[in-house]
Amino acid sequence: MTKAIQTGPAPARTEGTDNREGGHGAAVRVDGVGIRFGSFHAVDGITLDIAAGEFLCLLGPSGCGKSTLLSALAGFVRPSEGVLTVDGKPVTGPDPDLGMVFQSSEALFDWLTVRQNVAFGPRMRGRSRTEQHELADEYLGLVGLRHCADRFPGQLSGGMRQRVQIARVLANQPRVVLMDEPFGALDAQTRQVMQEEMARIRQASGCTVVFVTHDIEEAILLADRVAVMTAGPAASVKSVYPVDLPRPRDEDDPTALDLRRSLRQDIGEEVRKALRDQGLDPEETS
Ligand SMILES: Nc1ncnc2c1ncn2[C@@H]1O[C@H](COP(=O)(O)OP(=O)(O)O)[C@@H](O)[C@H]1O
Ligand SMILES: [Mg+2]
Repeated sequence: MTKAIQTGPAPARTEGTDNREGGHGAAVRVDGVGIRFGSFHAVDGITLDIAAGEFLCLLGPSGCGKSTLLSALAGFVRPSEGVLTVDGKPVTGPDPDLGMVFQSSEALFDWLTVRQNVAFGPRMRGRSRTEQHELADEYLGLVGLRHCADRFPGQLSGGMRQRVQIARVLANQPRVVLMDEPFGALDAQTRQVMQEEMARIRQASGCTVVFVTHDIEEAILLADRVAVMTAGPAASVKSVYPVDLPRPRDEDDPTALDLRRSLRQDIGEEVRKALRDQGLDPEETS
């Protein structure tokens, strides 16, 4: 039986097991965080310790506050209560150490080439033209798109555009990458390829990753730990599970099956609770 563990620190990575090339991820601490929008209490009392270099998936029913928490981690939204820190430093606003990948690749600049898009962050930080070019090509290589450097985003498929967005975020060499359902808009096959690529990209970049998804399979495939949020309002963390599975992951491994069952049960309970709160009795309507 898979056991949920508390929201305390993840086990520290040891030298022997960490063979990523980058290895410059930062530790993230979410300490008693509550977020209100006016009188609406979106999330409440969230405490999570994310180890440097860890891949944490955040799961939860739609509308529970996953994007809200991620926006607070990115410095876009200020918590009403509690503190968010990155390597002990409070998050006070957007920071180049915190990279955000959105669900939609509309965030790309359509009038710039793929290379110029990826070089944008280094250019803003005053890197030389040679450095911009080298960094862009390095990260385009990492996402398998160096051959597309001179094309424009409009000439690429949805999956390729999403890879460009990931390369653009990584080219800023952030210590934490925040991803909000980054593959949610892709077709099932492209999504599967991107999930496999993501494991490799993460390995090579060494960043800490906080990855929001509503897809249990995706979480089991990618995460070191999975945190499940309760239904809102005032959503908190319901459970946290370690994913004790070797990589590449086998979805038919008994541990994976066991974890899937526990996650389904936890999320099912929260969805039913949300339906009851909306006056819909799931037992009656099913
Ligand atoms: N800027 C905002 N102003 C008011 N309410 C918001 C704002 N952003 C999000 N919310 C509300 O907070 C709750 C959580 O939203 P969100 O974080 O987007 O959920 P999720 O990403 O889990 O689907 C929802 O009820 C949403 O309507
Ligand atoms: Mg969301």
